[in-house]
Amino acid sequence: MSDSIILGIESSCDDTSAAIIKGNCILSNIAANQAIHKEYGGVVPELASRAHQQNIIPVVEKSLTKANIQQNAISAIGFTRGPGLLGSLLVGTSFAKSLAMSLNVPLIEVNHLQAHILAHFIADANPMPPQFPFLCLTVSGGHTMIVLVRDYFDMEIIGKTIDDAAGEAFDKIGKIFDLDYPAGPIIDRLAKEGNPDAFTFNKPKMEGYDYSFSGIKTSVLYYIQKEVKKNPDFIKENLNDLCASVQRTIIEILMTKLEKAAKELNIKEVAIAGGVSANSALRKVMEDNHEKLGWNIYIPKFEYTTDNAAMIAMVAQLKFERGEFTDLRTSATAKYDL
Ligand code: KG4
Ligand code: ZN
Repeated sequence: MSDSIILGIESSCDDTSAAIIKGNCILSNIAANQAIHKEYGGVVPELASRAHQQNIIPVVEKSLTKANIQQNAISAIGFTRGPGLLGSLLVGTSFAKSLAMSLNVPLIEVNHLQAHILAHFIADANPMPPQFPFLCLTVSGGHTMIVLVRDYFDMEIIGKTIDDAAGEAFDKIGKIFDLDYPAGPIIDRLAKEGNPDAFTFNKPKMEGYDYSFSGIKTSVLYYIQKEVKKNPDFIKENLNDLCASVQRTIIEILMTKLEKAAKELNIKEVAIAGGVSANSALRKVMEDNHEKLGWNIYIPKFEYTTDNAAMIAMVAQLKFERGEFTDLRTSATAKYDL
């Protein structure tokens, strides 16, 4: 891999992030999270794009300072073109375009989903990078899919959710429990003190490798409504057990299909990526499957799981080597296939 220095910019949802990569080593990875959305129980697109506007320059400046890099050392600029919230993507895209123009360096567009997967090739993401072909369970607030990765830029979605994403299920169920947004990390923490077998919630019956998460959300909602009528303190008194049971169910749904795909395709290289791959119980099941099923598992370093610019810089580096540059007339896109 070349030793070029590249700036990566991520602004697809509610995190403004900038990172500097040299070869495949991350020199800095800075993120400004937008606490404002907590008050609304979810990301408000208009507020997100305004906050990106405020954050982007300080975040990029910090990434350069932390990496101890001058602007003129940058060989190219990579940015998230999509998928994501259009107003948010526009901020990063416009900024990347202007900076590339003023520094007179190539511009490189990055698909956010590819970036979650290719984060595994950052030098310190794993002790060893995955070998092709591998399966990658990509689970975030917006996406849930099993991807067959044949090469860096040869990916095929073999299964995906037909409704909610797994992260969305964590967040929406968390809202029923009156937890802050995003609820995924809070449920993870509370579940550690709870009994995962305390409650049983419906699991969907889906064909092939596809997923559905709207059923579990409804199942939890109806159950809670029924119990709260009998005991208004039901949630408070059972919160840890509820979180542990919901988490167990979501992970069982995710892993059943991943195990089926690995078995049927005879692949033992198995990775997880995206925000939900930060979940401690999901990481534990992956480790168990290393023992039980002989999988070689790839669980990215925590800071490369939720949205970050390091993964964007990694993809930009791979495209830079291939000479895959983007025209300055490019524009952000809310939908962007793998
Ligand atoms: O990848 P990401 O940062 O943003 C998207 O591209 O969506 O993923 C965010 C999602 C949220 O739904 C959040 O609740 C979930 O990842 N998440 C978790 C954990 N950490 C983040 N879900 C379960 N357990 C966690 N520890
Ligand atoms: Zn993401």
